[in-house]
Amino acid sequence: MAEKTLDDLFYDTLKDIYYAERQVLKALPKMARAATDPKLKAAFEKHKEETQGQIERLQEVFELIGKRAQGKTCEAIQGILAEGEEIIEDYKGTQALDAGLISSAQAVEHYEIARYGTLKAWAQKLGYDKVVPLLDATLQEESKTDEALTTLAGKSVNAAAQKAA
Ligand SMILES: [Fe+2]
Repeated sequence: MAEKTLDDLFYDTLKDIYYAERQVLKALPKMARAATDPKLKAAFEKHKEETQGQIERLQEVFELIGKRAQGKTCEAIQGILAEGEEIIEDYKGTQALDAGLISSAQAVEHYEIARYGTLKAWAQKLGYDKVVPLLDATLQEESKTDEALTTLAGKSVNAAAQKAA
């Protein structure tokens, strides 16, 4: 077996997040539909637009490194999204639904933040200077989304969930 390099790992991880982003893009409209708080709904819709842009950014990254844009099944994101669907089913019609949606969206964001943080560090190491700002732009977006979700959780949503208890 030929020896694998950091370059191989970078490309494989890029495929992982490319797959993950496309799954997230499909899941976000379902989450927006399920959310009851209008601000949470709006946050999911906004992030759907951002996710579309993130997918395009990844396509640019593939192009910059001279590799084909392709996804590789990411079981981690499948699991996180499956748990989110379970929350939608189990908490439909309850005051705790939005809190559950936020928790699963934050699990998604944290997965993505971990991936983009790593990819950015590797791109720096590999000297992919034009790739670094693209990965960083997405990393910033994911972090802002995570913060916005924390704010929403702290404000209306968890308060509503508690009131119902
Ligand atoms: Fe994303």
